[in-house]
Amino acid sequence: LDNGEMRVPPMGWLAWERFRCDIDCEHDPKNCISENLFIDMADRLSEDGWKELGYVYVNIDDCWSSKKRDENGRLQADPKRFPGGIRKLAHYMHDRGLKLGIYGDFGTHTCGGYPGTTLDKIKIDAQTFADWEVDMLKFDGCYSNATEQEKGYPLMSKALNATGRPIGYSCSWPAYQGGLPPKVNYTQLGEICNLWRNYGDIQDSWDSVLNIVDWFFNNQDVLVPAAGPGKWNDPDMLIVGDFGLSMDQSRSQMALWAIMAAPLFMSNDLRTISSEARSILQNRMAIFINQDPMGIQGRRIIKEKSRISVFWRPLSNNASALVFFSRRTDMPYRYQTTLSKLNYSTGSYKIYDVFTGKTMTLKDSTGFVVSVNPTGVVMWHVSAPAKWNLRQFY
Ligand code: DGJ
Repeated sequence: LDNGEMRVPPMGWLAWERFRCDIDCEHDPKNCISENLFIDMADRLSEDGWKELGYVYVNIDDCWSSKKRDENGRLQADPKRFPGGIRKLAHYMHDRGLKLGIYGDFGTHTCGGYPGTTLDKIKIDAQTFADWEVDMLKFDGCYSNATEQEKGYPLMSKALNATGRPIGYSCSWPAYQGGLPPKVNYTQLGEICNLWRNYGDIQDSWDSVLNIVDWFFNNQDVLVPAAGPGKWNDPDMLIVGDFGLSMDQSRSQMALWAIMAAPLFMSNDLRTISSEARSILQNRMAIFINQDPMGIQGRRIIKEKSRISVFWRPLSNNASALVFFSRRTDMPYRYQTTLSKLNYSTGSYKIYDVFTGKTMTLKDSTGFVVSVNPTGVVMWHVSAPAKWNLRQFY
């Protein structure tokens, strides 16, 4: 969507995967969906080095609202759990250089059973979100049918635009249509949404990550051309820092989300995250690759039966990123290849290993071996044999 928003994939934090629909503030005050949770996360984002790296969105998901609209038909936050209201929360974010995202659902109810946005409510809800000064809307699709969605998602795009407030627009529409053409029209999505969920929800497990990765790369011929500045495929939240992934698997998720030019919305508890998980999420080179301004989504270029795959993403300034990913579960995979086998042309390249920080120079024809841990990755930033390399000889 050409609204000036999200020219690189958006980054931030989203409540759903980790905190779900926990509304029991009486017994679980630290974790329930309430303004305190979003304030806590905003404090962590701005004080623990996240904001500077680009993690600026703090996004509310389902179960934030009151079960009833107000007397004017407007959505309202649950008064007990959000006593300050959403506008105040937006100001809290803006005062710290952060942004606030909110959640709505095109349908009679949200997936969690809260008031939804039917066709007749689209304008008023868009205006309410703009009045609250929110910066992003995730528009879910429970409790509406395909015919209604055909109208609803484009109409919400128009309605947000008509408010005059720049609001990033995340559409769950394709996920409800099965994610693939002919049902999904990716050209149209790119015109009306800034990002979209193509596929099912992520869960806190390696199985879930693998399943998502396989779906996205098996369908790369459809998905890669759909993405670009202002319009991104969304494989769902980062679960790094939660309970389900080992450190190798966490690096795999970070690496593959960077290759996919995916939005980086963490859903974890930033108050208690381990330093290892934090350093993976805060890896500058992985983020730099994810945020490349050309916005070209990467591809799987090698898929071997022997359970190694190689992924590649072209980057600005003739650079690129490579990910070697092992599906072995027994021992490290020693993968031998050359850059020319990976489609690199003649020359010597500067290699930066994203997770170890080691560098080396490699000729296209030189054989090398990477050792990839079980369910892990080796990720490289590769810069071209630029002429400036010659200077060091003068
Ligand atoms: C389905 C979405 O795909 C999830 O990300 C989450 O927003 C839930 N609905 C909330 O009910």
